[in-house]
Amino acid sequence: MNFEQIHVVCVGNSTLDRVWLVDQLPVGGGKFRAHDYLELGGGMAANAAVAVARLGGAASYWGRNGNDTAGHTMREELSGYKVDVAQFRLVDGARSSVSAILVSNDGERSIVNFRGSDIPADASWLPVAEIAKVQAVHGDVRWVAGALAAYTAARELGVPTVLDGEIAEPEDYQVLLPLVDHAIFSEPGLRSFLGDAVNVGDELSPVLGLQRARDLGCRVAAVTRGAKGTVWLDDAGVHFQPAFPVEVVDTTGAGDVFHGAYACAIAAGCGVAQAMRMASAVAAMKCTRKGGRAGIPTLAEVESFLARLEP
Ligand SMILES: Nc1ncnc2c1ncn2[C@@H]1O[C@H](COP(=O)(O)OP(=O)(O)OP(=O)(O)O)[C@@H](O)[C@H]1O
Ligand SMILES: [Mg+2]
Repeated sequence: MNFEQIHVVCVGNSTLDRVWLVDQLPVGGGKFRAHDYLELGGGMAANAAVAVARLGGAASYWGRNGNDTAGHTMREELSGYKVDVAQFRLVDGARSSVSAILVSNDGERSIVNFRGSDIPADASWLPVAEIAKVQAVHGDVRWVAGALAAYTAARELGVPTVLDGEIAEPEDYQVLLPLVDHAIFSEPGLRSFLGDAVNVGDELSPVLGLQRARDLGCRVAAVTRGAKGTVWLDDAGVHFQPAFPVEVVDTTGAGDVFHGAYACAIAAGCGVAQAMRMASAVAAMKCTRKGGRAGIPTLAEVESFLARLEP
């Protein structure tokens, strides 16, 4: 595999986590001291773009946030990971999506999320003609207008498309799935697409759910199930990629990174099974380090990880 010649556009969500490390989670009001503090970028499409860049591909992040300190911090961090941020718009008057996260010594968390405000949905400014020069488009469900614009152009230009199927309104899926080649859901995302329609008892029936997604037009429908691995459905039937056993430290962003790696592999012309295997290895390796981005391996590291597993 070689990702030096590929370019992936990732359209959608970018967030900023402000993390306070405290001895104990506060109970009630008062003043508390943190022994450490971190600012970490996250968000599905933004994390996927970092994965593409880390694996050696060219990555462009297309999205928007507020023209505030959080927006500038996110843009600078992405840029530091060599993600092209020319189409990361910071909008005057809008406020960025940020989370306050308190983490105690025993790993418990309190998370307060502000989804941002006055961030315009309009996507007409995206330079969609540039998609002619890239090898894959990845999108998420947090900016449906953006994903729709990019997928529409990609379809006309014959560029493959990948969707991160996280929790969204069922209507959003009706709009996006007909334009997507590879729809990769999380379990909660697949449930949000289906409602209760295909639960067997309390259990989600992944294959029935994935069939519903394919009925709307995507060629490959998959669901990532954390340590339980990934199930996908294509013309040939049902397939399974186990998760790789690793010493898990932090699973934050595993799904986002899986998508970035998968889009990279598809952009490079890999088959679906090979792309699933590579993405699973990248996501598992990410889980061995703290944070959503720090543990993302280079391509050489993934290849040696996979080679060690082979007889
Ligand atoms: N504990 C784990 N051990 C090994 N691999 C894992 C583990 N958790 C996740 N992965 C890998 O990452 C992929 C995506 O994880 P998961 O299904 O949890 O994503 P998600 O629900 O979208 O989570 P998020 O969006 O928070 O990253 C899995 O299919 C698997 O390949
Ligand atoms: Mg996810």
